[in-house]
Amino acid sequence: MIDVNGTIYQDLTKILVTREEIAAKVKELGELITEEYRGKAPVMVCILKGGAVFFTDLVRAIDLPLTMEFMAISSYGSATKTSGVVKVVKDLDNDIVGKDVIIVEDIVDSGVTLNYLKGMLSHRGAASIKIVTLLDKPARRRVKDLKVDFSCFNIPDEFVVGYGLDYDQAYRNLPDIGVLSPKVYEKKE
Ligand code: IMP
Ligand code: MG
Repeated sequence: MIDVNGTIYQDLTKILVTREEIAAKVKELGELITEEYRGKAPVMVCILKGGAVFFTDLVRAIDLPLTMEFMAISSYGSATKTSGVVKVVKDLDNDIVGKDVIIVEDIVDSGVTLNYLKGMLSHRGAASIKIVTLLDKPARRRVKDLKVDFSCFNIPDEFVVGYGLDYDQAYRNLPDIGVLSPKVYEKKE
């Protein structure tokens, strides 16, 4: 795995969450989900692409006969802001009627994306739906009553990349989470 001296780390102003901190939280969350869903076989829904790195680590920390589904949605807007309009780009492969669904996201920002998604999945007859997110930016929430069941890290209102999160599709492969230097997006936008 690349270390913090890697070339792509030069575009960060600072590291916000280290790979060690992430690993510890993922382990803790895996144990919590294992306890809470004992006797059940939850459907873990990965929200592509941002949730993918977190998802693959998290499922391996859960000692249950879970199943995995992948879903891609796009919310229109610029590379650093959502517009609130959500479109399903890749849907689930199996139906979720009567299933206990756990949505796994990279970050909850305005909450618009997840709120839409949760509504959509509950209409399909899931027995329960919980939301798990790696990061939460509570300061930017627009959907005030969206319940995030578990958030690994609350972060300030800064644009972050790494561990699945992108800027213009890049930086997802950073093992740590860092603040992207504004120089990178001021150049482009
Ligand atoms: P929301 O609908 O505003 O909650 O948007 C959430 C989505 O916006 C996430 O799934 C990310 O794809 C993207 N996003 C929000 N903040 C960041 C960030 O700081 N870095 C990278 N992507 C972000
Ligand atoms: Mg994104």
